[in-house]
Amino acid sequence: MRHLIEPMDLSSQETDELLDLAGAIMEDPAKYAHKCDGKKLATLFFEPSTRTRLSFEAAMLELGGSVLGFSSASSSSAAKGESVSDTVRTVSCYADIIAMRHPKEGAAKVASLKSGVPIINAGDGGHQHPTQTLTDLLTIRSLKGTLDNLTIGLCGDLMFGRTVHSLIRALLRRTNIRFVLISPNELRVPDYIREELKTNRFEFAEVDRLEKVIGELDILYMTRVQRERFFNEEDYVRLRDSYILDKAKMDLAKPDMIVLHPLPRVNEIAVEVDDDPRACYFKQVLYGKFVREALILNLLGVESC
Ligand code: NCD
Repeated sequence: MRHLIEPMDLSSQETDELLDLAGAIMEDPAKYAHKCDGKKLATLFFEPSTRTRLSFEAAMLELGGSVLGFSSASSSSAAKGESVSDTVRTVSCYADIIAMRHPKEGAAKVASLKSGVPIINAGDGGHQHPTQTLTDLLTIRSLKGTLDNLTIGLCGDLMFGRTVHSLIRALLRRTNIRFVLISPNELRVPDYIREELKTNRFEFAEVDRLEKVIGELDILYMTRVQRERFFNEEDYVRLRDSYILDKAKMDLAKPDMIVLHPLPRVNEIAVEVDDDPRACYFKQVLYGKFVREALILNLLGVESC
């Protein structure tokens, strides 16, 4: 039985094959419409979500399966003090696969040790978010035609943004990627990510001004300042508007740069940017459903990649 807790749980070949399968599903969804008939996906969301939970549920429904679950800790027995392990052990009796989001780093890993069915980490605190990364990789590969030889700028809350940590890890498997890490000093990437960049000998720069570097980028990955991970509201208020991508900044970017964002957006991309053909964050949402279909098929052993 396999789980997906972090991007490195998949080899680069497996990742490529998953992306290929997602592409095949995109081309011919009808072919996959009954692959999960009779199967059930449980979504256990101890933290808020729109895209991740609903795209998992839509993915399973598109495959002919059904879904059950909860969308907040307060409506589950976690509110009565039940441990994650006990919850997962219980839900393993009702579902064939579980997608789980939890505010604590490592929660999905703990769950996987007790689960009788595959666990997919749909975000564990400020740590990792591997299915957003699969979404990001499919988006980049589809829109740029490659996952190699790219300069990628990651901008915003690089300290608490789990999508950033997972995406960097996954890209360390690729060739000739240059990272430009754009954040306020207080929200720089955690040390373990910086160490991984150094150990793997990837070129990276840490800067605090977006305008200075936007012209170099092939991809700009914007992120929200993660209010829920801050220790106090004052710091959040001071840092939340550190970056606002607007038309004036887009004028400084390459004509073929693409802008991605895992969403939700708060203030960091002005709505005026949405009409720019380089704004690809809503396309990215659609890729997320197909890649989750591919992952469910793979982890259930219905379709090997
Ligand atoms: C992200 C998350 O939950 O980490 N959203 C998502 O899953 N698409 C990003 C965020 O909340 O800022």
